[in-house]
Amino acid sequence: MNQEGVNKGRRRLLIGATSAVGAVGAVGVAVPFVASWNPSAKAKAAGAPVKADISKLEPGQQMIVEWRGKPVWIVRRTKETLDNLEKLNGSVRDPNSEVPQQPAYVKGINRSIKPEFLVLVGICTHLGCSPKYRPEIAPADLGDDWLGGFFCPCHGSRFDLAGRVFQGVPAPTNLEVPPHSYLSDNVILVGVDQEGA
Ligand code: FES
Repeated sequence: MNQEGVNKGRRRLLIGATSAVGAVGAVGVAVPFVASWNPSAKAKAAGAPVKADISKLEPGQQMIVEWRGKPVWIVRRTKETLDNLEKLNGSVRDPNSEVPQQPAYVKGINRSIKPEFLVLVGICTHLGCSPKYRPEIAPADLGDDWLGGFFCPCHGSRFDLAGRVFQGVPAPTNLEVPPHSYLSDNVILVGVDQEGA
């Protein structure tokens, strides 16, 4: 490819990446964009932790907070969702999260501190788009075996509702779980490890 072709390709990629990030705040009407704590821009840039009030999050809902300029998703999983994770162990690349994409205190196939609440960095581990939350079971566009998860529209990577990457997609690893802790039953602090970790 000549230089002009390369530049055009790069421009397209950048535009694609920008729209993907721009779409993050609009993940469905039921998804509140929460910024309940507003540190200064300087503190944010330095990676200040972010509090998320999960008291109004209903089972099945996702909310998004911004931490270090990245979207962080919090999903309140239903019992059905948690039961389904086990069924997917044979279809995902790294069922037991052997690749360190999470803090050590996040264990098991749930990939969470409390089973009900999943906390993930919402950035695809392929080339950095932001996957879409698709909690429906077997929607027409994702197929009969889809039990809910995250779908990356950029190149089709699929993740389950623990952020585990499926086999046969471009993304190499599970979605990242950020350091986080519980200040109370209703407040998660993203960016600070659980005490004793
Ligand atoms: S960036 Fe998600 S599949 Fe490529």
